[in-house]
Amino acid sequence: MRIAMLGAGYVGLVSGACFAEFGVEVRLVDTDAAKVAGLREGRIPIYEPGLDRLVEDNAREGRLRFTTDLAEAMAGADAVFLSVGTPSRRGDGHADLSYVFAAAEQVARAAAGPLVLVTKSTVPVGTGRRVREVVRAARPDLPIEVASNPEFLREGSAIGDFMRPDRVVIGTGDGPGGERALAVLKRLYRPLYLIETPIVATSIETAELTKYAANAFLAMKVTFINEVADLCERVGADVHDVARGMGLDGRIGRKFLRAGPGYGGSCFPKDTLALARTAADAGSPVRLVETTIAVNEERKAAMAERVVAALGGDVAGKTVAVLGLTFKPETDDMRDAPSLSVLPPLAAAGAKLRAFDPAGTGTARQLLPAGVHYAANALDAAKGADALVLLTEWNEFRALSSARLREAMRGDVVLDFRNVYDPEAMRAAGFRYHSIGRP
Ligand code: UDX
Repeated sequence: MRIAMLGAGYVGLVSGACFAEFGVEVRLVDTDAAKVAGLREGRIPIYEPGLDRLVEDNAREGRLRFTTDLAEAMAGADAVFLSVGTPSRRGDGHADLSYVFAAAEQVARAAAGPLVLVTKSTVPVGTGRRVREVVRAARPDLPIEVASNPEFLREGSAIGDFMRPDRVVIGTGDGPGGERALAVLKRLYRPLYLIETPIVATSIETAELTKYAANAFLAMKVTFINEVADLCERVGADVHDVARGMGLDGRIGRKFLRAGPGYGGSCFPKDTLALARTAADAGSPVRLVETTIAVNEERKAAMAERVVAALGGDVAGKTVAVLGLTFKPETDDMRDAPSLSVLPPLAAAGAKLRAFDPAGTGTARQLLPAGVHYAANALDAAKGADALVLLTEWNEFRALSSARLREAMRGDVVLDFRNVYDPEAMRAAGFRYHSIGRP
């Protein structure tokens, strides 16, 4: 089989490479000529474990090709996927769909025959219908069948998530056209039948909403445990055990109950906001999601206040070491990362910041205050620090020797916003140790 994938961003690149690994011939199209040229030479524009190998192997085998030429990419394709960006629109928080519609129109104009056009980008309910209008207006002469196939992959484990998903959601239209689109998509995902992956075949609207509902629910789950963590601190309970005790109930589930500094990333903040806007516009507000958004924003800001409080109410002239800047480990992504809410107020209050991140420093330099010093490693960041703040739970931070940390620092305050360390051990090592929701 052959597909064209429009947009070599996170989703496009990962799903393109994974489909190629499934044996599909994939043409990945992007308008960014420099990006395409880089990809042809094996330069991967994002940090994702295993992606470089996957791209290299499949490019060598000729199954994965990169181009800026849409018509060339579409020649002989069984399906064309849209994986262009849907950022939050400035001002109102709605998803900006201009890239989606522009790409859909270009695809329609370039089409040489009947086509299945699949939206993989996360798009609000109703977008599929509008995409159908766009392609019909551009090419009334051609049967172009629109489908929705949202992607649930997580950064940092994207390849495993694509190759071994919990489910595949496929939304198609009514009638024989819809059946044809469903058949094409099922064939593309055939390797997953071997591992008995459930396929949820549904309408386009349902598929679109499923993606938002899933992300919003997970964001809500994280936010719930964060609030419970705050309560734990007040009443002397341990959030880790509460989460375990709750999560072992199969109806609740153990995942996404790790308390922390608030969720970030390219999806949860954007998608919760877009869902809240869509729902309000539809006259059916999702108040739990609206509250989740507000609580999470406040939480990220409150983390900076915790640092100030732990340093006695004033950080002016004090040195604060920060471990981890990305929104989660195994990614270089800084979008809506808690570090963006924590570091600027500390810098503004006069703290000297020494930060280390294994992958995010490049982007961090553009987003964080100019005065931040980027250390070569975690111990270097801790050098002479009055307090150490752990913001992202990279594995290498777990293995740090508390004795060497203590030696490197001037002060003894540690704020572990990811509950990575053992409170007893940290206190035994001589730290004034603060974590999230643990006594
Ligand atoms: C998410 C969804 O998981 C994925 O299905 C969707 O396709 C895209 O959005 P991602 O943004 O890559 O994936 O990261 P994820 O691992 O879900 O984490 C999101 C945020 O929640 C991170 O900031 C993370 O630190 C936080 N989180 C997650 C917690 O604070 N506690 C948890 O228990 C889980």
